Amino acid sequence: MTMPESLQLPAYEKHLYVFRDQRPERLLVRNYAESDIEALIDIQRECFPPPYPSELWWNREQLLRHMELFPSGALCAEIDGELVGSLTTMIASFDPNHARHSWAEMTDNGYIGTHDPNGDTLYVVDISVSPAGRGLGLGKQMLQAAYELVVALGLKRLLGGGRMPGYGAVRHEISPERYVEDVLHGRRRDPVIGFLLHCGRTPLAVVPDYLDDEESANHALLMEWRNPLIPQK
Ligand SMILES: CC(C)(COP(=O)(O)OP(=O)(O)OC[C@H]1O[C@@H](n2cnc3c(N)ncnc32)[C@H](O)[C@@H]1OP(=O)(O)O)[C@@H](O)C(=O)NCCC(=O)NCCS
Repeated sequence: MTMPESLQLPAYEKHLYVFRDQRPERLLVRNYAESDIEALIDIQRECFPPPYPSELWWNREQLLRHMELFPSGALCAEIDGELVGSLTTMIASFDPNHARHSWAEMTDNGYIGTHDPNGDTLYVVDISVSPAGRGLGLGKQMLQAAYELVVALGLKRLLGGGRMPGYGAVRHEISPERYVEDVLHGRRRDPVIGFLLHCGRTPLAVVPDYLDDEESANHALLMEWRNPLIPQK
């Protein structure tokens, strides 16, 4: 079912409107290019302030590797010519029975040297929307573009580790699994898990030591979106 390595998708380009205070604004979702690098790094700086380690922001070399190894998976969102968000993906082979992994090992520390065109899973390396562009639906539209990629490439699923930034504050009171249960039952709110649920993602497993991420006590919730055109086993 998976598209052979030799078949490349054309460049992605989607124009649509989003609403800010009930006023429509034109959004473009497209692949990012070398000329976007500075803006992409600026978005990371705004999205991941301390205590998030600045070494985990994109660097130029990583972004060049995304464009070289899997240009179709390197997406960004632009409003009125200004870059406001990005979504980076790669292809991986994923076995749900061996779900535990760290972000660094899965993504080759963000350089995506582990990208496997013959894999079955579109893996989200990062999604970021600058604070000024939040709440307009940009994150959701970029994920929608990634779901379209999953279908176009005949992959089984999209998968990613969602940060759980509300967990760090209660880590000594409850387990991460209990925290996730609370979020799923509406007893607690988490900005990233909440966002991913709104975007159609479903939880698979909590993974410890996923990322150096104090707010999440280094945990992540693996969340998938299954290709609805591939029979589920
Ligand atoms: C998480 C993030 C990408 C969301 O981007 P965004 O563009 O503001 O989100 P959207 O406007 O597309 O929201 C899509 C849906 O998620 C919901 N949502 C957004 N933020 C939410 C939050 N904090 N809590 C609960 N739901 C949320 C929206 O209500 C919307 O739901 P709807 O479509 O049913 O109305 C953005 O806040 C961000 O970049 N955060 C910092 C970086 C980060 O932590 N990235 C995640 C790494 S795993």
